[in-house]
Amino acid sequence: MGVGSKVAVIGAGSVGATIAYALLMRKVASEILLVDIVPEIVHGQVLDLSDSAFLGSTVIRGASFEEAGQADVIVITAGAKQKPDEPRTELIARNYKILESVIGSMQPLNKDAILMVVANPVDILTCIAQKLSGLPRKQVFGSGTYLDSGRLRLTLSQILNVSELAIHAYVLGEHGDSQFIAWDSAHVGGKRLLDIPAIQKLDKDKIAKDVAGKAYEIINLKGATYFGIAACVSSLTECILLNQRHIRPLSVYNEKLGAVLSMPAVIGSKGIEEIFEIPLASEEQSKLESSAAALKEICAQYMQ
Ligand code: LAC
Repeated sequence: MGVGSKVAVIGAGSVGATIAYALLMRKVASEILLVDIVPEIVHGQVLDLSDSAFLGSTVIRGASFEEAGQADVIVITAGAKQKPDEPRTELIARNYKILESVIGSMQPLNKDAILMVVANPVDILTCIAQKLSGLPRKQVFGSGTYLDSGRLRLTLSQILNVSELAIHAYVLGEHGDSQFIAWDSAHVGGKRLLDIPAIQKLDKDKIAKDVAGKAYEIINLKGATYFGIAACVSSLTECILLNQRHIRPLSVYNEKLGAVLSMPAVIGSKGIEEIFEIPLASEEQSKLESSAAALKEICAQYMQ
């Protein structure tokens, strides 16, 4: 992968178009294929995006579902979006049908394709995509709590007055209301976060609530979120195309729990190269297990 790499973005709405824009700015793909069931939307987005492509050599164009199925990386954003105050799990019935149709329209898939699910509820849709795609599980993952973890790091960087890049802290579990912060393993500059007085005096429940609630706040103000998720997806796509083997909290299949939810995972050219088990405090482990049980049950309902 790398030279001549093709990235297909399924769904040309605000999320898909912003992902395409972020990828154009990163200049990592040779071609970006934009796909949607509404051809006029694709045409309009491609015309607009092509005006930004002069900065690099990436080609941006519309394509069919069949051609998208042969891409190296396929990003699935197609789906209904959350309404104000609507939990992501309320989208499952509508977005399951859309996902089923999208994957069916792309078959037969490139056997080496990496499928990245972004549409919500991302954990359940990733679980379903792993089954519907027929690809090895390691090649099908979801953006998961990568964005939530970025939101957490932003908050902590403002409290500690250090760069977000110096903060290693995860939000894990569901990309949704049952997500949790893995405080026990979090550290900054080699120091445990929980050993820092400024952190010790924080209302950690409020931090967790604010991070989990940020998408709702943005949606209530502007109708949708797309810049944060586009930054995450373009970074993950670069990581795949350049085989960077970063460790990111992503929605992956957890063998022990039998569910798909976010754990730290090594991501490279072959997709999920390894799941990075980290020590969790007992309270964090029980939150992970209850999230997994709920997500596993919902996924099973759609795979009968
Ligand atoms: C959010 C969407 C991507 O959290 O679920 O902004």
